[in-house]
Amino acid sequence: MGIGRPDLTVAIGDWQLANPIMTASGTFGYGAEFADFVNLNRLGAIVVKGVSVKPRIGNPPPRIVETACGMLNAIGLENPGIEKFLTDKIPQLKKYTCGIVVNILGDSLEEYCTLAERLNETDITAIEVNISCPNVKKGGVAFGTDAKMVYDVTRCVRERSDKPIIMKLSPNVTDIAAMAAAAEEGGANAVSLINTLLGMAIDIRARRPKLANKVGGLSGPAIKPIALRMVWQVAQRVKIPVIGIGGISTVEDVVEFLLAGATAIQIGTANLVNPKAAEELIDGLENYLLENKIASVKELINGLIT
Ligand SMILES: Cc1cc2nc3c(=O)[nH]c(=O)nc-3n(C[C@H](O)[C@H](O)[C@H](O)COP(=O)(O)O)c2cc1C
Repeated sequence: MGIGRPDLTVAIGDWQLANPIMTASGTFGYGAEFADFVNLNRLGAIVVKGVSVKPRIGNPPPRIVETACGMLNAIGLENPGIEKFLTDKIPQLKKYTCGIVVNILGDSLEEYCTLAERLNETDITAIEVNISCPNVKKGGVAFGTDAKMVYDVTRCVRERSDKPIIMKLSPNVTDIAAMAAAAEEGGANAVSLINTLLGMAIDIRARRPKLANKVGGLSGPAIKPIALRMVWQVAQRVKIPVIGIGGISTVEDVVEFLLAGATAIQIGTANLVNPKAAEELIDGLENYLLENKIASVKELINGLIT
């Protein structure tokens, strides 16, 4: 007995996604740049490059270095600022039917509040809050490394927006599940993880760091086992949906993250290697379900046998 097309839909609160595949912030521009390679309407959602209140020029070059099975980046969150983003980028995105998630970053609690309030007036789908950037006002500690601060940022964006709120967690902590629990307590609709791991590369001839910023964020297949472990730990701790990110580049990777407890996943560095990666993974996931006679992708979520 054959089965029809498998059901790829997943839900994050009231938000229904056509499939669990999203693109990760900073690796897919503002979406439109990839329109020649990917049918954007097919994506579960596009997560755009991080946006701040004021424009940021980012770090000096070199800002990207290739490493074994991955890369280091120290872009420094370059972006045009929220107002220019809303006038220049949002209208292009409105042409597409997929979910539009806006990734926000701030140097202070007030900046996160301002961004959440401003985006609440627009028709974007959801807000992803990047709390891995330094909290300048409190002396350079990232917001995402202190459970109380994770709770405070979540609360402030929650109070100012009715949109689904996704808190994006930093892996540069001892207990990521505690950060996820703080986000849940603060009213987040979902958590996404992981952001990049802090890393370094050295040019031995020049005896200098390869990145002008000296250190940068490690991403790509090299970080996948760490991301998978963290997603699994977080999924056991919180009831809100978990969005898995980190080195996902094959259908097997996607299925692993779903089994570990992710409701959806994001494709990051893989887009830079193959710009068609996200769409190919949607087809690949559908084929996997068909071949294994699995009627719905939801059957995989949290399906790990331990
Ligand atoms: C070039 C580059 C830029 C990124 N910019 C952002 C960003 O603006 N905001 C953010 O939350 N994450 C940013 N990230 C992190 C990714 O969204 C993702 O969390 C990370 O790269 C791990 O996934 P991957 O291994 O699939 O790339 C960036 C990553 C890369 C490689």
